[in-house]
Amino acid sequence: MNSVRRWIKFNWWYYRHPPWDTGISPPELYAFLRHHSPGRALDLGCGTGVNLVTLARHGWRAIGVDYALPAVWRAWRRLRRARLSACVRVGDVTRLAWLGGSFDLVLDIGCFHSLSRVERLAYLSHVERLLMPGGSWLLYAHLAPPCQQAGPDVRGLTDVEIDDLSRRFRLTLREDGLDHNRPSAWFTFEKITP
Ligand SMILES: C[S@@+](CC[C@H](N)C(=O)[O-])C[C@H]1O[C@@H](n2cnc3c(N)ncnc32)[C@H](O)[C@@H]1O
Repeated sequence: MNSVRRWIKFNWWYYRHPPWDTGISPPELYAFLRHHSPGRALDLGCGTGVNLVTLARHGWRAIGVDYALPAVWRAWRRLRRARLSACVRVGDVTRLAWLGGSFDLVLDIGCFHSLSRVERLAYLSHVERLLMPGGSWLLYAHLAPPCQQAGPDVRGLTDVEIDDLSRRFRLTLREDGLDHNRPSAWFTFEKITP
């Protein structure tokens, strides 16, 4: 699917009720927050801001970015109602040149795996730039099934790609699971200190 069709699809979903928008943060995020002191967090593909609220309630200074307007609007309203100072911006996670500073945590729940190969490279260059040394990239992604690891239309992360990510970042935790029978995993990567 090309990027414009994907953008339309995500916007369309948010005019309905997307199945992933459960209103609760996953236990893997809470586990991370239990073991890390608060700092600056960036939620890429933040959707309706559920995880921004969780981060802010745990003392993190959080900013979310998403390109689906109805999602950002709902996130903004959610944060305002909760009187939390986290902020949310409309933006493309592959074009983050406007965003500066350095972050202790980059969170991605379900966004990276939806990008094309080329978009993933642009995204990664921003994550590398924006993470402070030793900072964490907490990623939840679908995995390509073992029988579909090659070809132009591979959906989800392949083993080769995960190996490549593990060379760019230090992989400190991987927890595999199934999401509606689809293989998926939580990864914690750390930015390697030069
Ligand atoms: C599966 S949803 C997950 C949303 C949120 N992280 C959550 O856990 O509820 C993926 C999100 O990534 C966003 N997204 C996908 N590609 C994007 C891009 N290139 N730039 C910004 N947001 C993007 C979508 O709009 C959508 O909100």
